[in-house]
Amino acid sequence: MKRDVLSIRDLSRTELHKVVDQAIHLKALRNAGTDHALPRKNTLGMIFEKASTRTRISFEVGMFELGGHALFLNPNDMQLGRGEEVRDTARVLSRYLSLIMIRSYRHETAVELAKYADIPVINGLSDREHPCQILADIMTMKEEFKTTEGLRVAYIGDSNNVCNSLLLAAPMAGYELAVASPDGFQPKEEILHEADRAGVRYEVYTSPEEAASGADVIYTDTWVSMGSEGEHDKRLRAFAGFTVDKALMQKAADHAKVMHCLPAHRGEEISGAVMDGPSSLIWNQAENRLHAQKALIMMLL
Ligand code: CP
Ligand code: NVA
Repeated sequence: MKRDVLSIRDLSRTELHKVVDQAIHLKALRNAGTDHALPRKNTLGMIFEKASTRTRISFEVGMFELGGHALFLNPNDMQLGRGEEVRDTARVLSRYLSLIMIRSYRHETAVELAKYADIPVINGLSDREHPCQILADIMTMKEEFKTTEGLRVAYIGDSNNVCNSLLLAAPMAGYELAVASPDGFQPKEEILHEADRAGVRYEVYTSPEEAASGADVIYTDTWVSMGSEGEHDKRLRAFAGFTVDKALMQKAADHAKVMHCLPAHRGEEISGAVMDGPSSLIWNQAENRLHAQKALIMMLL
């Protein structure tokens, strides 16, 4: 039976920890210069409806280092862009490839692709979730704090795809999450219902200072996600006061670290001084995308 990872909740708690531990192992092998190619040559098709730096490059490099190959697929260069149906594309790609990764505007596109594909489908970011990012983030927190159990994580900003996956992963990783977003940009009812069913320990605030209070980790992401560009000015006004800067970091624990999935907008959701400062785990997060996705691919294959 093929497995898809469209949501972080498509992994069990045990699987999530296995992937993270395997990723830490793969990182050590890579740092030691030890070859870790798989015996079989696998192929990954990567469909990108939206731009990407980290996801595209880390998957491509990851497949190469695992002894396989990744194909960058722009829907506009495929018949998909001329109206070929997602289900037909899924069936055809399944005859060529070992796995598919899709970055789609609508989460439903990834769901439909997975429904009709006979091979594993990975969500490389949709409007609902960004599970690959959160796997790398849990790995990064584990490297820093030895365990993610009992951490207090504060997410400051737009309750977007990254926030949703961070929220839904919480009971598996064992952290509690405090979200601070302005009215109108808080987690959607549907996500909070799922979080309740999953036993997530969370709090939702409109005050960044309250959410940040005593936190071990302060996490933020752009105020204007891909697809929301039409609301740029409205969003910048709504998020005034939500910048993760030195003053906000002072509300957190003394040892607190800052995280951001990138790309960042210095001076908007995060100050340059915090991004470049000693509490930043941001570059580790970006690197860990590579290791976490290789581990995920190994699990799915
Ligand atoms: N964090 C992340 O997914 O980055 P890209 O959009 O560059 O892939
Ligand atoms: N929330 C952002 C993340 C980019 C990696 C977006 O969806 O654009």
